[in-house]
Amino acid sequence: CPFGIKSENAGRAGAIAAVVYNNGKGGLSGTLGQPSKDHVATFGISDTDAKPYIEKLQAGEVIESSAYIDAIVESIGTTNIVAQTKGGDPDNCVMLGGHSDSVTEGPGINDDGTGSLTLLEIATQLVKYSVNNCVRFAWWAGEEEGLLGSDYYVSQLSDEENMKIRLFMDYDMLASPNYAYQVYNASNAVNPVGSQELRDLYTEYYTVHGQNYTYIAFDGRSDYDGFIRNGIPGGGIATGAEGIKTRKEAEMFGGTEGEWFDHCYHQLCDTVDNLNMEAWELNAKLVAHSVATYAVSFKGFPE
Ligand code: PHE
Ligand code: ZN
Ligand code: ZN
Ligand code: ZN
Repeated sequence: CPFGIKSENAGRAGAIAAVVYNNGKGGLSGTLGQPSKDHVATFGISDTDAKPYIEKLQAGEVIESSAYIDAIVESIGTTNIVAQTKGGDPDNCVMLGGHSDSVTEGPGINDDGTGSLTLLEIATQLVKYSVNNCVRFAWWAGEEEGLLGSDYYVSQLSDEENMKIRLFMDYDMLASPNYAYQVYNASNAVNPVGSQELRDLYTEYYTVHGQNYTYIAFDGRSDYDGFIRNGIPGGGIATGAEGIKTRKEAEMFGGTEGEWFDHCYHQLCDTVDNLNMEAWELNAKLVAHSVATYAVSFKGFPE
């Protein structure tokens, strides 16, 4: 196998999913460790019911188990999967990631089975080729609970390891049923650590393939957030979540004006029937193109 595979526990200090849930017995339960105040997620309890607990956690209070009447707080560990080519310059890596978790409300096939499977297929195909730069794949844990896995990963990099990642490419939601080809507006004018080179690679690809595209905000709504906050250039593509397709976008991409890009976003119906296969195929090829490009060279990139 040409990949070194390593997995790591994302569930340590600063990246702990604090899960507040009803114990179903209407009685008292204990705490299983003090959750992180930065990352609080709720499960099996309404936001309203969870609110008092969350506020305490966020205020940094250490909550005794006896403080709980109908809920317990529990810390759970989650695991990132990271795989890197054995070949290629290990000091100059292109990294890409999708997230392997879904929301508790649904199976997460578009969000983000599409990104996860695209990466898996490309990793599988990449073994047939040699690379100049190392390629590092990540399947992030806990994205839906606040970008836990990717945040933790970046927070644990030494300065030296940080410098080896020349670029991070985010692949989340690649086949929304009412899709638009969305490119993060990672222009250097908008965000100093956005990669305009990567942005232009995506837009050129869509243009060459006779497709339109739109720019979307590079505002930290997916796993690239930890990277750009730590000075690692990033970018990515998506096909739309809960946003509403405009008339102009319906003209550009087809589909239905006035409806969500993904009407099953974060819902039970995000199944294998919730995919636009045409969008997925083109995007999967674009992801492969991005890997192929930067596995060969970072020519034109800032040092
Ligand atoms: N990252 C968000 C989620 O997983 C969805 C999203 C993807 C939003 C891409 C904007 C762009 O729920
Ligand atoms: Zn959610
Ligand atoms: Zn999601
Ligand atoms: Zn997602």
